[in-house]
Amino acid sequence: MMMDRSSTRGRIIQLLCDCAPEAVSGEEISRRLQISRTAVWKQIKALRTAGFDIEALHAKGYRLLHSPDALFTADISSGINSRILDQSIEILAQTDSTNLQLKKRAEAGAKEGLVLVADHQLAGRGRLGRSWQSPPGVNLYLSLLVRPDIPVQQAPQLTFLSAVAVATTLADVCGLSAVVKWPNDILISGAKIAGLLNEMDAETERVNFVVLGIGINLNMTPDQFPGELTYPATSVYLETGQRVDRVRFLQALVQHLDAYYGEFLEQGFAPIRSRWERLCPIVNRQVSIQTGDVSLQGVVVGLEADGALRLQREDGGIERIVAGDVRIIQ
Ligand code: BTN
Repeated sequence: MMMDRSSTRGRIIQLLCDCAPEAVSGEEISRRLQISRTAVWKQIKALRTAGFDIEALHAKGYRLLHSPDALFTADISSGINSRILDQSIEILAQTDSTNLQLKKRAEAGAKEGLVLVADHQLAGRGRLGRSWQSPPGVNLYLSLLVRPDIPVQQAPQLTFLSAVAVATTLADVCGLSAVVKWPNDILISGAKIAGLLNEMDAETERVNFVVLGIGINLNMTPDQFPGELTYPATSVYLETGQRVDRVRFLQALVQHLDAYYGEFLEQGFAPIRSRWERLCPIVNRQVSIQTGDVSLQGVVVGLEADGALRLQREDGGIERIVAGDVRIIQ
């Protein structure tokens, strides 16, 4: 079977990481990946060009000394002081989708707080069945497992929690003022910098677990955005001209997620709702909302407990908007 080159690369990185600081032999890599020794050597050469410091040891094989950024080698958990979530963070060189993998782990009984991070996703999932562009080496793609004891109707509140955590981290680590777009995009100057995809599992009206999926464009360059994007997109690098240390960003993000999740468990949705409303430019503004064939006008006055938008009509009545396209009038 022919294997796609990026997938081979990801699997070699994973093997080197799993074995580090020990070496893994060329023969072992060749056997596990079903590729020739020459192909192994070519991949190692390509990885070195990409900034991986790989030592070749006589009769032992290849040993990973250093990767281009420390995502694969840093002790990420030790830089996080979490209150609620345990600090299990697993870094995958490559996977189909961290959400998919974490759901499997959750179904098999994984504990609340497990975070899966991928350097590269081959089938990154976006909302509404879209895909999420997930090239290697540049961004963060992660999923966090939570098991709150809440009714199903409250599960959407967790998406607002992730949005607040991402926007706060962008401000703290990168000095960027991101805004949140209802229901759950993170924008800088009108362009999308991060997306959220929460997936829930429930039994008898209570939440069993929720996977909070977060993708953030950190060091992505213009050529790495797909040509056919239907919305404007950006990355921290495009906004600031500076590369972000992915480990530092990840640690700060997990720290914020932990703090907001703790607050959510103790005080409910209210504090998250106010934080989100402060980050949302349409709150207190006159807007027009297109929902299907109907166009509604009014002032956005905030969020309902289930994440619906509260729109105050001119006659003072409140309309609940569950989906729609919002345009600011003034
Ligand atoms: C959106 O459409 O805006 C949501 C994008 C969510 C992407 C993230 S990346 C990590 C996690 N794994 C996935 O497959 N999707 C989410």
